[in-house]
Amino acid sequence: AYILWQGQIMKEATAQASLFDRGYQFGDGIYEMVRLYDGQFFALQKHLERLNKSAEKLDMTLPYTSAELTHLLYQLIQKDHADNGNVYVQVTRGTSTRDHLYSRTETPILSAYLLPQKDHRQAHTSGIAAYVTEDIRWLRCDIKSLNLLGNVMAKRQAADHQCTEAIFHRDGMITEGASTNIFLVNNGTLYTHPANNFILDGITRQEVIDIAEERHINVVQEPFPKEVLAHADEAFLTGTTIEIMPIHSFTGDVQVTLPIGPITKRIQEAFTARIG
Ligand code: PDD
Repeated sequence: AYILWQGQIMKEATAQASLFDRGYQFGDGIYEMVRLYDGQFFALQKHLERLNKSAEKLDMTLPYTSAELTHLLYQLIQKDHADNGNVYVQVTRGTSTRDHLYSRTETPILSAYLLPQKDHRQAHTSGIAAYVTEDIRWLRCDIKSLNLLGNVMAKRQAADHQCTEAIFHRDGMITEGASTNIFLVNNGTLYTHPANNFILDGITRQEVIDIAEERHINVVQEPFPKEVLAHADEAFLTGTTIEIMPIHSFTGDVQVTLPIGPITKRIQEAFTARIG
């Protein structure tokens, strides 16, 4: 496999990161995960805009313009002869001797490589189990930062309870999943947390809102208490790698079994049409 490293596309083994990279020492960096379908990146411009926003919020400068990065990412997948999968793009602030204080003179380091896509076909019809737990993350979840300890811990906790994803609640209100956004369906209306500092504004989330508007399905972007999950008609997750994933049950702080309903299926079909 190939890797995009310092503007060059090279064999994976050739790229070597420094021990003094601030990403390694402080988690001082950002990332994106972009889906590749049949040789085309899905919503690449939106991902690059979000990468730029994450950089701005952390007072970092990206080493390339979006146009340059687009070109480099297509070069990478051509070299890999890849048509499908996910490209992981990471930017760290750069290297420095270990000091919490960054100086603004560091040179950011961008790397990117392809990851295989897991087969979710089975789960897309039968749904997944979700584990509801407290959101212990920081207050800037809108930044797609490399600091993912809260997410990593929750994912393990979910797996230890035979669940595929963890769903967070903060002060009793549902925010998002460990690596996904969550939607509820109640009486034909979609409910999801507003895009503020408590969640990552997912690209797939934005697509779903767009699809719903196109189909005259009402969307309410307001926080809702975790107890509402127990009375939902349907629930699903959204994310680049899982697309639209139905939830068949919640465990942990909310316990309920749900059917996989018609609205989830309609959204899945409409999303499939958009990527095709
Ligand atoms: N996760 N919320 C969180 C915390 C996420 O990490 C992600 C994405 C999402 C969904 O965003 P999108 O629809 O743009 O993929 C929501 C990526 C895939 C990851 O960490 O691997």
